[in-house]
Amino acid sequence: MAAHKVICWDCGAEVEDPFVNTCPRCGGLLTVKMELEKVKEMKPQDLRSTPIGVWRYAPFMPVDPAHKVSIQEGGTPLYPTKALGAEIGVENTFVKFEGLNPTGSFKDRGMTMGVSHAKELGAQVVGCASTGNTSAALAAYAAKAGMKCAVFLPSGKVAMGKLAQALFFGAKVLSIDGNFDDALALARKMADERKLYLLNSINPYRPEGQKSVLFEIMDQLNYEVPDRIILPVGNAANIWAVYKALTELEEVGWIDKMPMLTGIQAEGAAPVARAFAAEAKDFVPEQNPETVATAIRIGNPVSGRKALKAIYSTGGYCTTVNDDEIIKAQQLLGRREGVCVEPASAASVAGLKKLREMGIADKDERVVCICTGNGLKDPDTIINNCAPPIKCGNSVADVERILSE
Ligand code: F0G
Repeated sequence: MAAHKVICWDCGAEVEDPFVNTCPRCGGLLTVKMELEKVKEMKPQDLRSTPIGVWRYAPFMPVDPAHKVSIQEGGTPLYPTKALGAEIGVENTFVKFEGLNPTGSFKDRGMTMGVSHAKELGAQVVGCASTGNTSAALAAYAAKAGMKCAVFLPSGKVAMGKLAQALFFGAKVLSIDGNFDDALALARKMADERKLYLLNSINPYRPEGQKSVLFEIMDQLNYEVPDRIILPVGNAANIWAVYKALTELEEVGWIDKMPMLTGIQAEGAAPVARAFAAEAKDFVPEQNPETVATAIRIGNPVSGRKALKAIYSTGGYCTTVNDDEIIKAQQLLGRREGVCVEPASAASVAGLKKLREMGIADKDERVVCICTGNGLKDPDTIINNCAPPIKCGNSVADVERILSE
């Protein structure tokens, strides 16, 4: 573990109370400032004796591995996806498949850090609002840590696999009348009244664990920085976490350039993309977000300003894709590469296709699309967009007839 302090991202004040989620002085967003002097004496190879995964990068993390609550998260594959790339027109495309984490999404990276920190603090009850994946991850890590867990879900709009996981791991699953933004407001109120320890990404320890996806990508590419990294953007912490990891690698001298960080939002839930189009540093919240990619159905992203900073500082881009483009990209990834991702994750691939068509992404770029969650999280969407099973008689002739059609 490296020494660190929690500071306000807006006014720079040091924040000592570990139970607040915004700056007591100005109300700003919090962040962790890592002390990386010791890492400057190390090389990437020095970390390779520890298995790939979140905790390989402990020198960049603010929690002592002695307290770790882990289900062996991270260490996900980085697939070279040439066939997909050829179809899109950017051949040198890779997919980082986060759906192979223990609960099937990148959220496990943040939760191992967040729940380990909660354990350090002696928290007994943890909670979060979620569009689904965060709740599945928190429920699993709380079970592992032996903590009580409450998850606040928007009623009726959570994909079946995610809901099943939260119930299965024994969390108190609260169905809130409203959308994610409403559920988060209630969870924050509970945290402000010290009734639970909040593990949404407004908690600055969560993005610290999520930095590891970038460290792994760099490890897997032997520290050759790609031209562009594309992520779906919902509550907007993950793109910020990736940016923070890049700035830390630059600080210790392990990389000397930045990839263009590119955020993709669903057309019906796109406050960050609209702010980018207006060249604004802040976004205007949207009232009724709607998209098939329910994971990113968010109108008031907590880390929206941080995401914009990440995008502007790296010369990146932000745009939207519609539901049809999302589903087509999801199917393309399945049928060309044998990879099954959930709709929100397919937004990164749909976004690359759109950026190529717009002439923003060059055909010779080396691009990593981060595919954040497993397709089995949302089987309903998959089945609704595939042809149904074929009725077949119980005979060789019937099978042959169908195969020849
Ligand atoms: N992809 C998936 C599969 C997600 O579940 C999320 C966020 C995102 C992308 C967007 O990441 O919020 O850091 O910009 N899901 C949250 C949840 C909101 O509650 O599970 P972000």
